[in-house]
Amino acid sequence: MAQGTRAEVIVIGAGLSGLTAASELQRQGIDVIVLEASPTIGGRAKSTTTKLGSHIDLGGQWIGHGHRRLTALIEKAGGTIYKTFTRGLPLIVRDRRTVSIFSPSALVSLLYLAIFEVMSKVYVPRRWVALTVDKAIETMAPTQLARQLLQLLVAITSTADLANFSMYSYAKTIPLCGGLIDMMGTAGGAQDSLIVESTGIATSMLAGELSREVLTDTFVTSVSQHGSEGIKVGTASGRQFHASKVIVTVPPPMWKNIKFEPALPAERLALQRNTRMGIVYKAFAIYEKPFWRDGLGAEILVLDDPAFGVFDSTSPGGPGHLCILVPGSPAHQLDNLSAGERRDFLLSRLVPHLGRRVLEPVDWHDKAWHLDEHCGGGYVAFPVTGSTESILPMPHGPIGNLHWAGTETSTDHPGYIEGAIQSGERAAQEIVRDLRQVRNGEEQ
Ligand SMILES: Cc1cc2nc3c(=O)[nH]c(=O)nc-3n(C[C@H](O)[C@H](O)[C@H](O)COP(=O)(O)OP(=O)(O)OC[C@H]3O[C@@H](n4cnc5c(N)ncnc54)[C@H](O)[C@@H]3O)c2cc1C
Ligand SMILES: *[C@@H]1O[C@H](CO)[C@@H](O)[C@H](O)[C@H]1NC(C)=O
Ligand SMILES: *[C@@H]1O[C@H](CO)[C@@H](O)[C@H](O)[C@H]1NC(C)=O
Repeated sequence: MAQGTRAEVIVIGAGLSGLTAASELQRQGIDVIVLEASPTIGGRAKSTTTKLGSHIDLGGQWIGHGHRRLTALIEKAGGTIYKTFTRGLPLIVRDRRTVSIFSPSALVSLLYLAIFEVMSKVYVPRRWVALTVDKAIETMAPTQLARQLLQLLVAITSTADLANFSMYSYAKTIPLCGGLIDMMGTAGGAQDSLIVESTGIATSMLAGELSREVLTDTFVTSVSQHGSEGIKVGTASGRQFHASKVIVTVPPPMWKNIKFEPALPAERLALQRNTRMGIVYKAFAIYEKPFWRDGLGAEILVLDDPAFGVFDSTSPGGPGHLCILVPGSPAHQLDNLSAGERRDFLLSRLVPHLGRRVLEPVDWHDKAWHLDEHCGGGYVAFPVTGSTESILPMPHGPIGNLHWAGTETSTDHPGYIEGAIQSGERAAQEIVRDLRQVRNGEEQ
């Protein structure tokens, strides 16, 4: 008998897509095991607890309007969903001063976005395949302020490296994600609601339900399928696993770490080579109270390089949670700073608007996703400029007994947690259907 651990199905990756797939397979009576490279489960959903006992998400956190799968999952886990606190329009800050959103430059930027929103629905010119978002903004924006604002807004909604992200890809993604207004919106938009207990309540429920414990610190380095022998999965520490079917939930750029045998078909190899993970740094400053609510609030777009967005992610009655997102390539500027330096650098830029109190958080947590060894970045993988075959949702048909999930492959809100859940459900259904056919075949 072959050495190693055997299961009917192996799921690679314990993010929301992998955990959803495993939970659904187990529900259907299929023996499943989940292998995760990181020391923790959740993948791009990563929760932690603050010094004040509150919960935060360093990865995905918002439940968008109409994200019904995620809503149902949180309700099932016994979590509490609340509406994101918003005053409506964000403050725009540049050179330490506030700029009115009704200034000509800001209005022009919003007008461009509105035109772009309409174009993304009706007509995306083919020549946009070669046009980078960076170049397009450079050409269109009449003032430096308009350019900075457009760059930040596109970066916050995409996290792509704007110098290697085409207008074509961006435009094609927008309708799939409900439109730009939806993507940028709080109430009724993609930032509609939050979870008091964080996404961790859902990932630990899903993992806890499995009869076989998720194997963390288990970095898959090879996947070989040879005819009727089933699939052999090897790990960095030399362990071996065997299964009849495998679900790969690893985002496409990170397939580079896995040796597939036989090699992946050309279409999938192109997908791996022509995509890159988004770049994003996320931080939370924690305070006893959301003191900014006595003043102008803490929804702020800071345009000075590196530009960043500030969001109020405080739960009702909870301690103040100031959430900071530095999206896209400007986030690299923080890579070589210490945690203390990053905190002081970012918070000092908020002093003119929030006062000196902002400099003394009770707690500070942050994560640069582009430095995550296994996820490789976030929110999502993007096609590089010039590529059209890897537009979201990315190809995901089974290859023999290899099935594919992950938010990148979702037809409903790809890039979001909702998409991850949908892709996990879909991959599990493919397998249930196939295994049923095999069983029926054996009975006849
Ligand atoms: C900063 C940030 C903010 C976000 N904000 C939101 C938000 O507010 N709302 C929202 O809906 N979405 C948000 N997202 C996106 C959301 O988090 C993701 O879409 C979702 O979590 C992806 O789940 P997944 O299962 O598809 O992939 P992942 O979570 O990436 O799961 C893949 C797993 O595979 C593991 N893995 C990789 N390689 C290997 C290997 N070789 N062997 C074994 N395991 C491996 C990885 O460690 C990972 O755990 C955000 C993401 C980030 C990073
Ligand atoms: C875009 O990414 C591709 C693939 O990684 C790379 O070959 C190309 O040089 C990049 N272009 C720019 C302008 O960064
Ligand atoms: C950070 O440091 C590394 C290694 O010291 C270096 O290669 C890299 O260029 C630096 N990055 C930035 C943005 O300064």
